[in-house]
Amino acid sequence: MSLPRDHSPPRSPTPPTPPTPAATWRQRLHHAFSHFVFTAGAHFYAWMTWTPIWREHCASLADSFPQVPSPAALETDDAGRTRLRILDLGIGPGISGIGILDRRPQALVIGLDFSRTMLRLAQRYLRRAGLSPEQLPLIHGDVLHLPFPDASFDVITHHSFLYLLSQKEQALAEMARVLRPGGAYVFLEPRKGGSLFALLSGDGGFRFKLSMFLWRIFSGGFGRFEAAGLSALLSAHGFVAVDLQTTLSGLGFLGKARR
Ligand SMILES: C[S@@+](CC[C@H](N)C(=O)[O-])C[C@H]1O[C@@H](n2cnc3c(N)ncnc32)[C@H](O)[C@@H]1O
Repeated sequence: MSLPRDHSPPRSPTPPTPPTPAATWRQRLHHAFSHFVFTAGAHFYAWMTWTPIWREHCASLADSFPQVPSPAALETDDAGRTRLRILDLGIGPGISGIGILDRRPQALVIGLDFSRTMLRLAQRYLRRAGLSPEQLPLIHGDVLHLPFPDASFDVITHHSFLYLLSQKEQALAEMARVLRPGGAYVFLEPRKGGSLFALLSGDGGFRFKLSMFLWRIFSGGFGRFEAAGLSALLSAHGFVAVDLQTTLSGLGFLGKARR
């Protein structure tokens, strides 16, 4: 499988307003801070999320992917069968991509992350899960400049990712560019509202509850979404049939849309 690099400008239906120099510096600092946090905290994050419940949670994203075989699917396997080509953005230590493969073992899942430390951990967890690098290729890259040609994927997905970005508009324009027309966009992101207490007093072991607690703290700092704003943001970038369902005791949105 070859993935030619393509850095053609994103096709956004809304002309971007150039940020002021101060805003540009704030965005750069935010980006560098996020890179630092996820690189320095990669081992801790992997320990906390390498649990059956987190894996199952990531896997459940795949329940909203289109069924295969689809005549429009972009990829065929060695036997000529069509299979979904899925991009997992911000794959981190790999659990989200591994979870998706649990549900869709025939799919090609490509994991992208901007932290090399996270990707090294993902290689380790892939081996531990008995998967080969061909089943889940890992790519070092930034969502702001995706190293893929236009319309390269049937599905774009991410778990706990968009809320971290200071340049959400640029990221969404890139996602819309690399998703094929009619392709699916499925994600899980933190929502304003909900009850952490309800979640913490429910099922799940210590590590899951710790991850949810930290998710809540982190998303308080980085920013949570509310339905109208998130819906408008996606629509402005060419996504249609936007469907946002609350999940995780109201702390999260399970989002679905089509390009
Ligand atoms: C909260 S973790 C989620 C990991 C995984 N999806 C999961 O659910 O376990 C977010 C990941 O996004 C990555 N990330 C953040 N900003 C990024 C960017 N601009 N481009 C690529 N990866 C990014 C971080 O390095 C981190 O691994």
